[in-house]
Amino acid sequence: MITIIVAIDKKRGIGNKGKLLAYIPGDLPRFRKLTTGNTVIMGRKTFDSLPNGPLPNRQNIVITRNKDLKIKGAEIAYSLQEAINKSTGKIFIIGGGQIYEDSLEIADRLLITKINKQFTADTYFPEFDDTWKLISSQENECDDFTYTYDTYEKI
Ligand SMILES: NC(=O)c1ccc[n+]([C@@H]2O[C@H](COP(=O)([O-])OP(=O)(O)OC[C@H]3O[C@@H](n4cnc5c(N)ncnc54)[C@H](OP(=O)(O)O)[C@@H]3O)[C@@H](O)[C@H]2O)c1
Repeated sequence: MITIIVAIDKKRGIGNKGKLLAYIPGDLPRFRKLTTGNTVIMGRKTFDSLPNGPLPNRQNIVITRNKDLKIKGAEIAYSLQEAINKSTGKIFIIGGGQIYEDSLEIADRLLITKINKQFTADTYFPEFDDTWKLISSQENECDDFTYTYDTYEKI
């Protein structure tokens, strides 16, 4: 089972200038609970955006074309397929835009936090078609906006 996990805004925006679009209080603990003990696969730019380096208690795999890159606490892969081959736990693809684009075809499940607001964005989640079926949707709210936790699976 390969899971994509992402937070998107009303226009599928996911990031701006190397950062996330919004802080969602409940989203981080949920992300941590889902991914802890498992494998997180990410693009090098998403890795660079992490405030404290590799995510603790998870196998971190960073995809890059840079053959000289070494990261303490993370494994390096030169393609998505190589990252998948190196995975030892349940696989969570955690971004960013380039890696989501490549992984949509091979993923089985999408966990999307849909924010009911539009932000200034320069990075987007790809469009996904109706081979993806919405199997659950949970509404939430914080001070600035409402959002839903949507789960899709490939039919
Ligand atoms: N909303 C969310 O849930 C969410 C989640 C994650 C990230 N984000 C946001 O997304 C943005 C970053 O996304 P991004 O699209 O700019 O970058 P990214 O996908 O995180 O990383 C891109 C990098 O990955 C490597 N790469 C990509 N395709 C590759 C391939 N086929 N083979 C080998 N290496 C490959 C390259 O690294 P090298 O340049 O080192 O070769 C490339 O520069 C940030 O704003 C971040 O905050 C949002």
